[in-house]
Amino acid sequence: MKKPLRKAVLPVAGLGTRFLPATKAMAKEMLPVVDKPLIQYAIEEARAAGIDQFCMVTGRGKTALVEHFDVAFELEATLRQRNRVEALEQLKGSQVEPGSMVTVRQQVPLGLGHAIWCARAFIGDDPFAILLPDDLVLSETPCLKQLADAYRETGGNVVAVVEVPREHTNRYGILKTGHDDGRLVEVQGLVEKPAPADAPSNLSIIGRYVLMPEVIGHLAKMERGAGNEVQLTDGMARLIGHQPFHGLRYKGTRFDCGDKAGFLEAQIAFALARPDLADAVRGFLHKYV
Ligand code: G1P
Repeated sequence: MKKPLRKAVLPVAGLGTRFLPATKAMAKEMLPVVDKPLIQYAIEEARAAGIDQFCMVTGRGKTALVEHFDVAFELEATLRQRNRVEALEQLKGSQVEPGSMVTVRQQVPLGLGHAIWCARAFIGDDPFAILLPDDLVLSETPCLKQLADAYRETGGNVVAVVEVPREHTNRYGILKTGHDDGRLVEVQGLVEKPAPADAPSNLSIIGRYVLMPEVIGHLAKMERGAGNEVQLTDGMARLIGHQPFHGLRYKGTRFDCGDKAGFLEAQIAFALARPDLADAVRGFLHKYV
């Protein structure tokens, strides 16, 4: 029987060096797209997939991420006193059920695989999702919900995938593909950041995963891979052949918010998707292009 998916791990220990000076004293996951921080998009997406237990893998200087999901008592009392109903409403998505969010620290930057391993006590024997908040997906059905549905269909591991230009394979985890029905792809191999000439396909993993807890045992070996880091991709590769493993071509558009151009594109796309802003944004955009 497939265990229900209720847990999500959010690795947020990165330094955000690509966004300095903005991230000098602020967690990069607190950068807003329109008016909501990246981390809140990730939590809301997880919730929409039925997840109700969250673990953020944090590091030094990341306390704002924890504060963000707390009750802001003074702020809320003041808003209530002033009858600011709309502002109060806007705070709702930033509150989680008491006791539903924990953090663990990744004290040393040894890679994404190591960050996930740091959450091993939280994961226990349960299937779990991973959301990388840098990857933002604009879609009708939230991307992780699509993955959770695919997990219920196939069992085992499911990762969100998209075709990328050949010359970009060295930026992503890349699939060696088996049976492919155009939506679900059987994963026969996984390689982290291969050079275009060595890439087994141009189907890349984006930052949304549903994984089985057995991956932790492989990550625990702390084998170093690409960039001399403990790679999640390598740990996942060890599961192939032992458990079902699929890639899902999700429906939606991914924005790489870890990159300045991708982040700016996300601002425009998300603003245009907002009824309260679309006209104004469309109105000024043509001035600049
Ligand atoms: C990580 C993963 C990579 C994946 C990517 C998605 O890389 O290691 O397999 O394709 O996220 O964004 P990073 O972006 O941390 O270098």
